[in-house]
Order: sequence, then C-alpha cells, then structure tokens
Amino acid sequence: MRLKIKSCSFRSLLKILPLTFLLSLLPSCGAGDSPDDSLRLGVALYTQDDTFISALAQDLEQLVQEEESRIGQKITLLISDSRHNQTTQMGQVDRFLARRCDVLCVNLVDRTAAAVLVDKAEAEGVPLIFFNRQPVDEDIQRWSQTYYVGASAQESGTLQGELVLEAWRSAPERWDRSGDGVLQYVMLEGEPGHQDSLLRTEYTIQAITDGGIEVERLARDTANWNRAQASARIALWLEEFGEQIEVILSNNDDMALGAIDALCETGRPLEDWPLIVGIDATAPALEAVAAGQLYGTVHNDGRGQAQAMLSLALALHGGEDPAGAVDLVDGHYVWLPYRTVTQANLSAFRAS
Ligand code: BGC
Repeated sequence: MRLKIKSCSFRSLLKILPLTFLLSLLPSCGAGDSPDDSLRLGVALYTQDDTFISALAQDLEQLVQEEESRIGQKITLLISDSRHNQTTQMGQVDRFLARRCDVLCVNLVDRTAAAVLVDKAEAEGVPLIFFNRQPVDEDIQRWSQTYYVGASAQESGTLQGELVLEAWRSAPERWDRSGDGVLQYVMLEGEPGHQDSLLRTEYTIQAITDGGIEVERLARDTANWNRAQASARIALWLEEFGEQIEVILSNNDDMALGAIDALCETGRPLEDWPLIVGIDATAPALEAVAAGQLYGTVHNDGRGQAQAMLSLALALHGGEDPAGAVDLVDGHYVWLPYRTVTQANLSAFRAS
C-alpha cells in the first residue's frame, strides 16, 4: 500500500491517524510525480517507536511547513519507519532513490551498514545525510556528499557526570546514603554498539572520577533506550541491592523514566530515592525534573538537528555551498551542542 504525503497534509492526517500507522504508509516518494525543481526529501527513521526520534521527525515536519511558507514553494517530505530492520531500511532507501528524492536523510538501524548506503547514494548522485546514529568516519569520508548531523556523545556523558558531581557535592548527606564517601551506582545503557551508549557510559563516569569522587558500580545492563526494559532492570536491582543504590545513571531519559516507574512501584518516599539522571530533555523527563523525581537531564537538541538537516538539504539541492547554510566541521559534520537541565533552569526548556 502506498500513500504520497506532502508535508502540508501531514499534520492534518496526524489528527486522524496514529503516527505509527502513518509512518508505516510512507515507504516512498510517490511514483509518477511530474518533475519540478522543488526539494523532495526522503527520511528513513530506524524506528518511529523511539521518543527522541519521533519528536525529531515531528520537529522536521513542522520546520518544513514553516520553510514552505517562507519560500512560497512546496517541499515534499517523505518519512519511512525502518522498524529496527536494516534490510527494510535498505529497501526504503532504494525506493527513495528510484522515485527521484533529491536528498536522503538516514537514521541507520545498524551503524555498520553505512558504506552500502553511501555507495548507493553516490551511484545516483543523491546527497546523503546521516543523523543521530553515527557511522564511522571512514564511511562518512567515502564520498564528498555524505554528511552527519548529530551531537557529541562524549559531551553528553561529560555533562551528565557534571550534573551528578554538582548534586553529590551540594548535598553529600542526602546522596551518600552509606556515608562511605564512595558513590555506589547502577548504569542503564542504551543499545549495544550505539555511539551514545558507549561514550555516555564512559564519559559520565570519567567526569565523576575526574571530579575526585570514587565510584563503585553495583550493576550495569542494556535496556535498549526503552522505558519498560529499564523499569524491569531497576526493579530487579532494587530487590538485589536495595538502599545500597545511591545513583541511577541512565544513557537516556526514557530509561530514567523507567527507573522512576520502578521506584514508584515500591512505594518508597521520594526523599529516600537514589539520585537519577538522564539525557535528552524529552517532555515527560522535564515533567519528572519539575516533580523532583529526576535530578536533571542533558538537552539533546532534536529540533536543532532537524533544522540543520533541512538547511543542509536545501543548500545541497539548490547547488549552494553547504558551509554557508550550516556550521560544517571537516566538510562533513554538523554538531549541535548539549546543555544541562535541572530545576534551576527548567523554565527555559519547558517553554521551548
Ligand atoms: C537518544 C536516545 C535515542 C537514541 C536513538 C540517542 O541520541 O538520546 O533517546 O533512543 O538516540 O538512536
């Protein structure tokens, strides 16, 4: 089943159809369109069932609408849901190419599959923008028209570690439950092999130990960015370690919210909870910060990434120098900054 969706009709369709259904109907750029010089942008998401990614896709759709009004020209935005399957994504990219998309944006399912996609795009002369799931540099360098839009995984880990240091130092009697001066923690990790799982895990701990705090890891495991999986892990760890857990470090907000779900289930009063930190600053995580359940998070600028992808795509399609449209590093990379969020600066993020 095929459905051609123009960006201007996407929002109204959203009102009547669930997003899951809509995205599953968007495999291609619509055969038989009359050629014109307006931008046709094909976007493949590793899964739309990911809080951060689906918010980024909605931001992109909104930005496309705003840009259409600004330039007075149609932009055709096609979004496909690869449903965690790299083979499915390959087929979607083939269809985007067969149907004359001008620029492709790919949120890889498997980061190691990038080279094949670069070769396909190069063969058709269609610029390729990877986002959020970062290929190795060798694959990015494979073709001059390959780009990556994202945020530094290392930076997010460091900022998360600094949040923990700030809390620990300002109220050691609150967080160091054992009073031994050592920070006992559990770590909820994202998908294995994802740059954000690997580097956030490493640099959060490095920032804490660089700050002079000794740490002891009680447990670690992947919860695949997923709230329900994280809740199940934390429930087990709470049974095993009880009040020994002083800090719950989570590679993203959805898993931190899973930890909060598990703690709520125990009925333990909030003042006895461990310190919990996440990354992303999703809307529900900001509510958890407001409620004092989540100490803080690190804002992952999905809207900024969507804007950079659109600006880059427009420049490439218009034959302009992409460095004039975005802040391009090493000719291929666009990096959006992370920012920490706590109750102290929450209002700036809830308003945006
Ligand atoms: C986000 C996660 C998300 C993942 C998907 C990360 O940058 O922090 O929330 O699940 O990207 O690739």
